[in-house]
Amino acid sequence: MSELDIQKIRADFPILEETIRGKPLVYLDNAASCQKPAAVIDAISHNYRHDYANIHRGVHTLSERSTAAYEASRDKVRQFINAASSKEIVFVRGATEAINLVAHSYGKSKIKAGDEILITWMEHHSNIVPWQLLCEETGAVLKVVPINTQGELLFDQFEAMLSDKTRLVSVAHMSNALGTVNPVKDIIALAHARDIPVLLDGAQAAPHMAVDVQALDCDFYVFSGHKLYGPSGIGVLYGKQALLEAMPPYQGGGDMIRKVSFSGTEYASLPHKFEAGTPSIADTIGLGAALDYVSGIGMNAIAAYEHELLIYATEKARAIDGLNIIGDAAQKGAILSFTLDKVHPHDIGTMLDTVGIAIRAGHHCAMPVMDFFEVPATARASFAVYNTHQEIDVLMDALTELIKVFG
Ligand SMILES: Cc1ncc(COP(=O)(O)O)c(C=O)c1O
Repeated sequence: MSELDIQKIRADFPILEETIRGKPLVYLDNAASCQKPAAVIDAISHNYRHDYANIHRGVHTLSERSTAAYEASRDKVRQFINAASSKEIVFVRGATEAINLVAHSYGKSKIKAGDEILITWMEHHSNIVPWQLLCEETGAVLKVVPINTQGELLFDQFEAMLSDKTRLVSVAHMSNALGTVNPVKDIIALAHARDIPVLLDGAQAAPHMAVDVQALDCDFYVFSGHKLYGPSGIGVLYGKQALLEAMPPYQGGGDMIRKVSFSGTEYASLPHKFEAGTPSIADTIGLGAALDYVSGIGMNAIAAYEHELLIYATEKARAIDGLNIIGDAAQKGAILSFTLDKVHPHDIGTMLDTVGIAIRAGHHCAMPVMDFFEVPATARASFAVYNTHQEIDVLMDALTELIKVFG
């Protein structure tokens, strides 16, 4: 059993005291967005109540305080993913914006007609569409590595599809629709043997496991604050310094320049070159508080506990007649996607809400995965550190009841 005191952790999350339709909230929609501890809510509130002003160029006290807290968050991110330098940490709105930044800046400067970009069949739309747009513009070709019926990447195919035309590999560290954790170290090793850079979409992985970008040796790593107990509207692009240095700016505006004149503009140094305009200041500070919070618990302890929850939920789900688990990879994070023989996923979601259970139903922004499994949608329960075995019992009892009613 886990060494964590889950009831103590739950007490840190005010929203978990809510009742929904008279029942205690059972929040199992964490892969879409997770709830916030008081420490994060308080950090945001503290900034607005005591320190708020625009950052970086201010000469007054509040601006200095906000700038210091904003830059302290950058260093917390650096530590959290073990980047070599805080110059490698670019604040963006989320994983989606980070991938678009790389597609625009790195993509348009490095990728030409006939070049290939390699992704996988299990990607979130935000790791598909930016590359499709880039391919439309440049004439590059998007190649997609297939998966098997367990929802695992076909690694031999991945290797076979790396070619002398491949200019970038972009893969999910962990799939949001299936929970699959990809063998990213092996992917990176194979790509690097051919001098191909690798972007890891860490939107699902960063909240659930320790990430060390230097040990992984990935070239880019992206994630969103709101899935990591932090605010929405703030996320991170990590890029190796040499790559970021060589990339042109993504957006122009204030804060990303050193000098502007009509004869030519000099850009700011890293990471500011990629942070045009006034950023989401209080939310960035809130992200720092979220990283302090999870680091205080320990990412390895979180991963171990969530694995316990996944095993427990999977065993219980397997015992329910008429429930089909979608995605059964050997390496899996705490996501349970499933269908019921007789109930549409949207009806599952709506019916569970009547007893206070929040899950997600739909295509999970991964329509190719739905096509592969030949389902229009799945129901998805996704776990966070504040979930309990008892909540899984509540979910499974409700599903059993649902099958009885629809049976
Ligand atoms: C694997 C994966 N990548 C990218 C994203 C996009 O994240 P955001 O919407 O926070 O930009 C998500 C969100 O669900 C995701 O699960």
